[in-house]
Amino acid sequence: MPKSILIDCDAGIDDAQALFLALSSPEVNVVAITIVQGNVLPKQVAVNVLRILRVAERLDIPVYVGSEKSILGNERRHDVEPYHGWDGLGDSPDPEPVDESLINPESASAAIVRICNEFRGSLTLVCLGPLTNVATAIRLDPSLGQTIQQCVIMGGNYYGRGNSTVCSEFNFSCDPEAARIVLTQLGGPITVVGMEVCRDNAVAWGDYDSLRKTPSKINDFLKRIEKKPFEKIRTNQIEWSRYTPFDEFAMAVVVDESAIVKESKEVFATVEVKGEYTYGMMVVDWSKILKRSNNVKIITKVDNKEFLKMLYRPVNWK
Ligand code: RIB
Ligand code: CA
Repeated sequence: MPKSILIDCDAGIDDAQALFLALSSPEVNVVAITIVQGNVLPKQVAVNVLRILRVAERLDIPVYVGSEKSILGNERRHDVEPYHGWDGLGDSPDPEPVDESLINPESASAAIVRICNEFRGSLTLVCLGPLTNVATAIRLDPSLGQTIQQCVIMGGNYYGRGNSTVCSEFNFSCDPEAARIVLTQLGGPITVVGMEVCRDNAVAWGDYDSLRKTPSKINDFLKRIEKKPFEKIRTNQIEWSRYTPFDEFAMAVVVDESAIVKESKEVFATVEVKGEYTYGMMVVDWSKILKRSNNVKIITKVDNKEFLKMLYRPVNWK
């Protein structure tokens, strides 16, 4: 039986890659997609998700939109060009607009609560953006953690180095309070795919170029949306030296954990919400000083050969 999953995302380019991986994998069945503020504002993320679902011919999957604001009510500044482009997908619009009437009127958090309870115990929550919707869902239904099989999160960091601020990974930096609520109050099995394990297993550009050589509709779409942002990275205008599909790492763990995960650590982790430099940093009690029960499983090593093989699934699918 395929694993039923609900994906909460802020599509972005690597969210698109992760969605295509999920849709091309028989091990999982995507039952819904919820939209969270992050790479770009939720309304734009929703358009992006519909663009992705149209390429995959899966516009049957319901899409729900969340709040533009963080759990504390802060709005994200979008005055600098986002890494994923102003529209979140490399600023390379499709010739045809999407049908926005497909966006479901139910709010993302209410949909998360309803669907998790409908699938009682058999749903995997996959979080690929800031955790605003899931934190709100916990406030709506404090028993949310008992209704899910697993929550897999792309986000956080465990060695204090950030990719958004000096000490914070992007998804956690967008809404640190929400991230703290989810890690410490969900009360269900949480797997964290942090930025370090993605960075440590990033794909060489030569392998990326071979991946994108396969003629396919999904490859054509991904090449188009990746063109501008990746040109910047590859001409070293941005520090990243290799192809790092953060969200696709998390989705690979969801699709086939036994093939992908080589090492994980059960720890107590929370999120700093007061630090001048460390606001949004994931704080891991490696030395068990706080004497708190473990609340997350952090993936620390993956099989990057298996991961590279998995990247070919979507592009060989459609
Ligand atoms: O830090 C990487 C994460 O931030 C990814 O989810 C990417 O899509 C951005 O949201
Ligand atoms: Ca994302």
